[in-house]
Amino acid sequence: MVPTGHKDLQYLQKLPRSPLLSYLCKQAQPAKPVSQRPSSGPTNFPALAAFASTKLLRWIPEYVSHRIGWRHQFLTYPASDLRNGVYKLKEGTEETRVALAGDWASGTDEAAGVANHIAAFDAHYTIHLGDVYYVGDQDETGENFLGIPNPRNYYEPCRWPQGSLGSFALNGNHEMYALGKAYFDEMLPALGVNKGGQPQGQGASFFCLENEHWRIIALDTGYQSIGFPVVEYFWPPDCGVPAELLQWLRKIVKPDRRGTIILSHHNYFSRYETAYPKQAIQLKEFFAAQPVLWFWGHEHRLMIYKEYQMGGGIRAIGRCIGHGGMPIGLPGEVKDAKCPVEFEDPRLYPNDENLTVGYNGYAALVLRGNELEVRYVDVLGDTVFSEQWSARDGTLIRSASAVGIATSDR
Ligand SMILES: [Fe+2]
Repeated sequence: MVPTGHKDLQYLQKLPRSPLLSYLCKQAQPAKPVSQRPSSGPTNFPALAAFASTKLLRWIPEYVSHRIGWRHQFLTYPASDLRNGVYKLKEGTEETRVALAGDWASGTDEAAGVANHIAAFDAHYTIHLGDVYYVGDQDETGENFLGIPNPRNYYEPCRWPQGSLGSFALNGNHEMYALGKAYFDEMLPALGVNKGGQPQGQGASFFCLENEHWRIIALDTGYQSIGFPVVEYFWPPDCGVPAELLQWLRKIVKPDRRGTIILSHHNYFSRYETAYPKQAIQLKEFFAAQPVLWFWGHEHRLMIYKEYQMGGGIRAIGRCIGHGGMPIGLPGEVKDAKCPVEFEDPRLYPNDENLTVGYNGYAALVLRGNELEVRYVDVLGDTVFSEQWSARDGTLIRSASAVGIATSDR
């Protein structure tokens, strides 16, 4: 059962990938749930509502005040942090459960539903792959991620479910639409590994979870996803990984032959949308000889790709899980037909807003020794796709996979 009282999907559908228009759409969102789609109301891009004089007075000053200025300083781990952002997973036959969701922080009923299923999974670690909507400012970080009610509207807030051992969040382009200030100053202090049941703060926007057989390495592709206003439309940023993070990989993580799981906000490749191969080219220094399992978000759908590489980047088995909380676009025009798809979820999600959208969901990972099980769970709690992997000396071997949804639903 999907909860109610949170934000509606309709106002987030087809949100343009643009800071200016994201600020515009933010103002167009009503102050309380609408639920049923109004017969003559907005559906895809409710821009006109934002041109009301009261909204205009908020839109332009907010855009200017949030976007003109320097980005928040890129944080690195201080010398006093002996772990340097590298945390130990359980060893041996003990299992570690990790929940991943991308583009979850929309504040919608569906985001709340996905959060409930993550909580039921009883994850040791929960990791958000980035994007707080619309613009990742302080108010939205509070109401869409930290569960803090916004006094200026009547929506139930959403809280990112905490793992019993820790919770983390990657940086996305929407957090950077407000220069990353709320991400670094509000979100990260509320995350990190737990001590005495309390999060100790996530020290930087990148980190590594590891055991004897596996490494989960989280990157920041959001920090360099914005440029100067207006200029960025003509020279789009490449979403590459900052130099400080590459140094951390070289000096601290020192990638080896363990099974490697990469997490990033931006997609390396995509069958339907713009690709961001710069990050994969940067990783060639570390993973030229072995493929990685790579989970990313940014694109609002679930995609299971076969191993692929492009643009001089590393070999990657791509898993797009940007279907955490935004309206899910169904397969549209193919942009790169060479991207080899193994599975995509084509089902229509029945909703009270009469929207033609797909199912939200998250990825449930269980690591045990050198084995990894991944289940892709939808907003109703059903497993859509599952797979099992083992890591042996830098080689990832998939021993099983299954489509979990009934054929009649597809
Ligand atoms: Fe994004």
